Amino acid sequence: MTGHKGISIRCHESRYNRDMQMERRKRPQGAGQINRAAHKLIQAFNWLLLLPLLYACGGGPSPADREGNPAETAAVDEAVPLKGLKLYLGYCFVCHGQKGDGNGPYAEMLADSPADFTDSTYFKAKTDSELYDFISKGGIAHGKSLHMKPFGFQMTRDEIKSAIAYIRVLNRHEQISRREGSDFSGSDIYKNSCVMCHGEKGAGDGRVMQMLNLEVRPITGRVLSQYSGAKLYNIIQDGIPSDTAGAGKYMPAWGASLSEQEIIDVISYIMTFGE
Ligand code: HEC
Ligand code: HEC
Repeated sequence: MTGHKGISIRCHESRYNRDMQMERRKRPQGAGQINRAAHKLIQAFNWLLLLPLLYACGGGPSPADREGNPAETAAVDEAVPLKGLKLYLGYCFVCHGQKGDGNGPYAEMLADSPADFTDSTYFKAKTDSELYDFISKGGIAHGKSLHMKPFGFQMTRDEIKSAIAYIRVLNRHEQISRREGSDFSGSDIYKNSCVMCHGEKGAGDGRVMQMLNLEVRPITGRVLSQYSGAKLYNIIQDGIPSDTAGAGKYMPAWGASLSEQEIIDVISYIMTFGE
């Protein structure tokens, strides 16, 4: 990660957090009982507040954009779709769904339907460059849904390209076959695929969960030691069933993207988190 990008992310995060805290304070007591329509309004409002901040922070076009036109620098085809899948589950799954059909657990909260990546007719007409531009700058910049936020601030250029490579796999109705064994350590896996929801130290304060204003209970060594190793393995492999009470439906299934060893390594890593 370049220093520049690091700075703009921190700037974005702290201002957004402050903003979200103000927003929470403004809400009346009993906000848990607000109906879905009101919830949608609040969501839309949060996004509208966030956008000018993003631009104020980044000073215009997104950092990924400043690195140049992706089409000129490297072909999207070179990016690894498997890496894209891991990022997709972290950043995109909540709305676009485990299978990419637009039925993610958060989709029902939105007034606009997330794109269905299995719609090959629609996506055949889109170039990689157009998709890159859309993902990096977001829906509003393209006269589309404000719920599709600009990911150029959270993801590097290579990460966005990997995500596009994975979207192409979904367009073709293909499946990813994961490699057995990799050089990734538990902490690498956590930083790539888990931190955006569970946060640096497992406190549940990851950016995606903040963006959706969802409460996630912390994953700490003490909490996790209540589970057997096999149970923990299954939660990560299969995700948490959508009919479970609480935030569980926002936990994706990693079985298609992480090898057995990688799941074991990431468990060892999260077990080191303190209280
Ligand atoms: C909070 C919900 C949400 C998240 C998270 C999200 N999207 Fe979207 N996305 C949407 C919605 C809603 C649309 C539909 C936009 C429209 O058509 O107005 C959309 C549309 C799209 C499109 C279609 C663009 C087009 O040309 O029609 C692409 C590509 C896309 N998203 C990629 C991604 C990627 C990649 C990620 C993860 C990095 C992601 N989205 C994360 C909500 C989301
Ligand atoms: C899109 C967001 C998201 C991502 C990415 C994600 N998780 Fe989760 N995870 C959740 C949510 C939400 C829960 C449910 C927490 C709750 O019940 O409050 C959860 C639950 C869990 C639990 C069970 C915790 C408990 O208290 O029962 C474990 C273990 C876990 N995740 C590990 C991981 C690992 C390891 C990764 C990365 C490979 C990962 N998660 C990636 C959202 C996510």
